[in-house]
Amino acid sequence: MKTVRTIAEVREALRDAPAPVGLVPTMGALHDGHIALLQRAREDCATVVMSLFVNPTQFSAGEDLAVYPRDEERDGELARRAGVDLLFAPTVAEMYPDAFATTVVVAGGLCEPLEGASRGPQHFHGVATVVTKLLNIVAPQTAYFGQKDAQQALVIRRVVRDLDIPTTIEVCPTVREYDGLARSSRNAYLNEAERRRAAGISQALRNAAAVIAAGERDSEVAVRAARTELERHEIVPEYVALVDPETLVPVEHLDAPVLIAVAAHVGRARLIDNLIATPGR
Ligand code: PAJ
Repeated sequence: MKTVRTIAEVREALRDAPAPVGLVPTMGALHDGHIALLQRAREDCATVVMSLFVNPTQFSAGEDLAVYPRDEERDGELARRAGVDLLFAPTVAEMYPDAFATTVVVAGGLCEPLEGASRGPQHFHGVATVVTKLLNIVAPQTAYFGQKDAQQALVIRRVVRDLDIPTTIEVCPTVREYDGLARSSRNAYLNEAERRRAAGISQALRNAAAVIAAGERDSEVAVRAARTELERHEIVPEYVALVDPETLVPVEHLDAPVLIAVAAHVGRARLIDNLIATPGR
């Protein structure tokens, strides 16, 4: 595995690299969710590139940018073991040189609800901009993202479609702990007691999905099932939402697959998770 820090070095390293090239964008603090994306890329592609960049523009003031876990040595070793060929770990100045002035804004309602309502739509403008840059820098045939960040994946799909970026976006299933907790770099912020309570988030999603699968048609009833389970774990959610899995428009009457999304603070960790539920007859 080769590690490079500049855009010019990425282009040079990929000039004669065998196609297809796969890209897995990350902010590091690698866990099994990231590793699953790398393994999928390794299966599909002749050349696997991973980017490691804690993108400051997707954090708002008061979020965890300064304390976001960083350990490039460990991440490099995990990436190497997962079969990464090229690790791109740029500096902030390399990605955002002086007088940087362009932002990719996805209008039309994907950036405003859920995470956009909690963190501000600017979060997704930051994600859209950095991912556009990474796709332009690496020019992969395929880029891999996790369903864990369902809204992010929708935003990125829209950017790629709208801007005619010739990359296929693959969205891979959420990797979970033994008790259902979605793997996240932010799980590192949890102490033991919080870690146990955090399992309530995925349990709440499963309870809501079970209510829907059992034939419930009123989304309010499913939301209540999720909220009850969260309360049992003393978790006060930022949101529990049932939305259309493609448009993120709220769903009231359940008659098609629905995205159940939750965000909640547990201790100082802000955690998100989601599940797609299918209504039963
Ligand atoms: P990061 O949080 O490091 O996540 C990198 C990729 O791993 C994302 O596509 C995310 O959805 C995926 N991922 C995280 N946890 C997962 C899990 N438990 N199972 C499956 N996939 C998981 O998301 C970002 O970084 C950034 O926003 C980025 C896209 C790199 C742009 O800065």
